[in-house]
Amino acid sequence: MIIAQISDTHITLDTPDAEQRARDFALTIADINALDPGPDVIVHTGDITHNGRQDEYAQAVATLAQARAPAYVLAGNRDNRANLREAFSGFGYLALDSDFVAYAINDYPVRLIALDTLSSASNRGDFCRERVRHLIDLMGVETDKPIAVFTHHPPFEVTVGPDRLHFESQNVMSGLRRALQHSGRVVAVFSGHVHRAAAGDVAGIPATVMPSIATTLRKGEYPADMRKRPVYHIHRFDPAWGFTTETRIVAARRDVLPRENGAPAREPRTPDYSCSQF
Ligand SMILES: [Fe+2]
Repeated sequence: MIIAQISDTHITLDTPDAEQRARDFALTIADINALDPGPDVIVHTGDITHNGRQDEYAQAVATLAQARAPAYVLAGNRDNRANLREAFSGFGYLALDSDFVAYAINDYPVRLIALDTLSSASNRGDFCRERVRHLIDLMGVETDKPIAVFTHHPPFEVTVGPDRLHFESQNVMSGLRRALQHSGRVVAVFSGHVHRAAAGDVAGIPATVMPSIATTLRKGEYPADMRKRPVYHIHRFDPAWGFTTETRIVAARRDVLPRENGAPAREPRTPDYSCSQF
């Protein structure tokens, strides 16, 4: 089984780098579509949009609709649950009877569980008792498949970068970590939010975070010729070895660039926008 993970596209319509973000997202989907073999599934681990607006979701849905593989989305701290739910409701996997954007996909050799780690108080992660109970219920549905869990906020301390803890408290993060260990069948945790690549673990469960697809918001140092090329993760599952993660650098392709009035697309200008918030 092959999973393509993308994250933190931060689609917006009115910042100086809005066109670049749209281009980064479109190039990434085109690159994933060109993979052979292609992924069984694409998972977007949140911050789909930058302001959670309906018009931003409309653009994101249109881009994701170009994907050949089925695509699933999580909510990030920049997303708006109600607008996200409305934008993606037609795909049928978002429960209508829950306040949270959390669900399980059972169609593959590995079960996929998407969690909602949003806080109403800050851009950091939260995971209340209700969500712990729901996670334990989701993990208990089947007994024989391994589980890959997807979160926006990483449930481990990311010791590169200025901020190690991305939950509101150690206590909150520990509650999620204990829940993830509960079933004994979670084999990997894949997250976003940090905008840089890193790896850690949840009491022995391998856990990774991936860079932001939005190259203008990506953290860490990259060679000059990579600065406008998005980076995403391919997770390949083997029953004997578990997941192996490959980092892929999107190839530059002019044929998927946004066009203006039918004219050939311009090369994007050097982005001058920086975002202090994840
Ligand atoms: Fe983000």
